[in-house]
Amino acid sequence: MDQVYLNGTYTPLSEACVPVLDRGFLFGDGVYEVIPVYSGKPFRVDQHLDRLERSLEGIRIANPMSREQWHRVIDELIERNTGDQDAALYLQITRGVMPRRDHGFGDDLEPTVLLTCQPMHYPSQAADTPGGRAITLEDSRWQDCHIKSINLLPNVLLRQQALDAGADEAILIRDGRAIEGSASNLFIVKDEVIKTPPRQRCMLGGITRDLILELCADNHLLAREIDISEDELHDADEIWMTSSTREILPITVLNQHKVGRGETGALWREVIRLYQEYKQQVMRS
Ligand code: PDD
Repeated sequence: MDQVYLNGTYTPLSEACVPVLDRGFLFGDGVYEVIPVYSGKPFRVDQHLDRLERSLEGIRIANPMSREQWHRVIDELIERNTGDQDAALYLQITRGVMPRRDHGFGDDLEPTVLLTCQPMHYPSQAADTPGGRAITLEDSRWQDCHIKSINLLPNVLLRQQALDAGADEAILIRDGRAIEGSASNLFIVKDEVIKTPPRQRCMLGGITRDLILELCADNHLLAREIDISEDELHDADEIWMTSSTREILPITVLNQHKVGRGETGALWREVIRLYQEYKQQVMRS
């Protein structure tokens, strides 16, 4: 998977270069998407492109391509890289290269567009998987986390703090409420009700999260978009973290205490089954 797309050209990764005055490099001034590719097909690609559009608008970059052009480039890059393998397609747009370093950006820069593919490794989804571990940390990010910005320094530091503590993910707490993970959304189960925080400015609206809510609605599982307090998180019967690269990761240990009975829960097993079934249907169509 070594072919990348950079500014109109397909090239081997080792030969892809960006000027040092690119604002992505100097300021983290850009946005991105991670799109799962199953059996050579991009998953929920229009939902990802819709969110990309909103992120671009949020940081005042004009979309450099039409929807048709995005589809063409994504399909071509997958074709050149994966055949029919599973992959994570990374798409990044920065504001472009400036003549000299300056915080202000004007409106005459040509955005830098980069797409890459890398192999995807999901966590185990067997019913008897031990699941993942999480710790809670104070959310130190900015207010506009609904924008999928490449400026990820707090997320990176929070994730590393979790890894250093022997955990897989940090669950971020803001004003006493559990918001999401450092790179994933949050679901809990309490008394057979599935709960996830509502979309809000300080949280990324995940594509995986939206699909899970759809699957719950279609299959008569009780799911609610509602604030989750830190106390409710600690009292949950099940906790799941969801993202394009981890799908639905069951968390069985929180801050070194068992979640529920410390094993995967019945609703996780049901929802992961529905999720896999849905993927199969889409891939066959
Ligand atoms: N991150 N919240 C945050 C902060 C994220 O970074 C992500 C995904 C999600 C889940 O969104 P989705 O279901 O659309 O993948 C929620 C990607 C995978 C990443 O940064 O690599």
